[in-house]
Amino acid sequence: MRKKIVAGNWKMNTSVTKGIELAAAVADKSKETANVLLIVAPPFTHLTKVGEQLKGSAVALSAQNCATETSGAYTGEVAASMIADTGATYCILGHSERREYYGETSETLNKKLAQCFASKLSPIFCVGEKLDERESNRHFEIVKAQLQSTVFNLSDEEFDQTIIAYEPVWAIGTGKTAMPEQAQEMHAFIRKTLAEKFGTKADNISILYGGSCNPSNAKALFSNPDVDGGLIGGASLKVDDFLAIAKSF
Ligand code: PGA
Repeated sequence: MRKKIVAGNWKMNTSVTKGIELAAAVADKSKETANVLLIVAPPFTHLTKVGEQLKGSAVALSAQNCATETSGAYTGEVAASMIADTGATYCILGHSERREYYGETSETLNKKLAQCFASKLSPIFCVGEKLDERESNRHFEIVKAQLQSTVFNLSDEEFDQTIIAYEPVWAIGTGKTAMPEQAQEMHAFIRKTLAEKFGTKADNISILYGGSCNPSNAKALFSNPDVDGGLIGGASLKVDDFLAIAKSF
């Protein structure tokens, strides 16, 4: 059985105080969604405090990124082992904002994947096409190449620990959600592509949809057989919206 997952990517939002409040509210209400794994991904600076807040609840903690290296003279970077020390068990990797604004490539991401696994962090690995790539009908080819150059390099054991997030770049923060049929079509394609390498293990991997997912559209998206949940940006900052999304299965 694939896990149903709703993960909140807080991006560069909230003060530490607000983050703690948000995490406390999510932890408190998480009992209402016991069939769904909830994950929150606050900024690095909040991880320890938010982790303390989540203790005793079923809500898991994630970082939004990690360093390519293990330790040393890398000013401004945060190692996967440091993230794991805070109690986090997940790490978002390859978000389109990281690919676009910080030049992350498959080469960078392969190093980050290795760092995550070395520190027992499960990656939430993002893929997705840009608007012009969809308009020129290259979306399948782009997503396949993103997977082949990264996730395909994982061992079977590493693959089992991985969550995939399909986030069409044109839908992120734009209010434009993929149609449920578009999401299903791409999620099924991703699963089929992963099966080429990992066989039946691809049936067990959770593939989340991300991009302007909110309480009004989550039900239609999550009712598709290959959509196992969501990676939620804007709506994860409002506890009621985040929980309403998690109740949409
Ligand atoms: P959004 O962001 O829900 O605000 O569109 C999703 C994401 O970038 O993970």
